[in-house]
Amino acid sequence: MRPGSGRGLRVARDGGDHVSVYWCLMEVLSTVAAMQSARAATPGSVALVPTMGCLHEGHLALVRRARAENEHVVVSIFVNPTQFGPQEDFERYPRDPERDLRLLAAERVDAVFMPTVEEMYPPGFDEWVELRGPLTERLEGAARPGHFRGVATVVARLFRIVQPHRAYFGEKDAQQLQVIRRLVRELHLPVEILSVPTVREPDGLAMSSRNAYLSAEERRAALALSRSLRAAERLLGNGVTDAETLRRAARDEIAREPGVRLEYVSVSDGETFEELEQVERPARLLVAARAGRTRLIDNALLAP
Ligand code: PAJ
Repeated sequence: MRPGSGRGLRVARDGGDHVSVYWCLMEVLSTVAAMQSARAATPGSVALVPTMGCLHEGHLALVRRARAENEHVVVSIFVNPTQFGPQEDFERYPRDPERDLRLLAAERVDAVFMPTVEEMYPPGFDEWVELRGPLTERLEGAARPGHFRGVATVVARLFRIVQPHRAYFGEKDAQQLQVIRRLVRELHLPVEILSVPTVREPDGLAMSSRNAYLSAEERRAALALSRSLRAAERLLGNGVTDAETLRRAARDEIAREPGVRLEYVSVSDGETFEELEQVERPARLLVAARAGRTRLIDNALLAP
């Protein structure tokens, strides 16, 4: 991607005699106009990986997939205020743009789109994308009213600005992934959605930017989430397909850990997120719980 803040040969003078010449591979674009003109000058396949930054190996797995499958990779870093509730952690959400840029340069990303809130939501903005129904109203939608409206709105805007051929999302946020798939279907957006399995720490904890909030004790207690998924999966492996029995196994596992407070356990249809009574075809097992003040989610595919 050529125009914008400059990918290619760069010359820097220090004001004295010293001149350095270096090759800059990754563009960092902070305005919608710069992103659009960089995009317009880019032939070939373009991938977008939307993120809120504070990158970890989960994000980097999406970037690597995108890098392997496309000629150009754009990563967006934008902590989107419209998907946070008034009592949520927008202000204190972890941010580390310098480290993020270093990591993305090492993955040979072509461009990073890092707009300000004013760029994404100009004064007077009042255009929302809201999908209705159980998919956006149950589970995360019920726990975080307005959350999926904020996600759908910002992702639709990012798609419009970057015009990617493909966009990559994590199964870690299984309900979000289906919201994006439905968004693309209902708005007829010309983008292919690809998903990447959840990347975990060696002990099973799903990677998340919010893990940075956890104290050592909370970090240990948080393992109850992935353990609860494994407990239900074991039962399913033994032929148990009754959804309530599977939910109970997951709930019991979480109840054994006093350091976490359960919010929900669900065995849902993987597309509509309606609760199931029997697991007869692939379904999603989802959990949400708090360790201290930190809200964590995890999920697994249930394949009978
Ligand atoms: P964020 O939480 O930064 O996540 C960005 C992408 O990384 C999402 O698609 C998410 O599912 C994926 N991801 C996070 N943790 C992962 C893990 N452990 N393994 C695999 N993938 C993982 O999700 C968002 O940001 C925002 O809602 C966004 C889509 C950017 C819209 O604002």
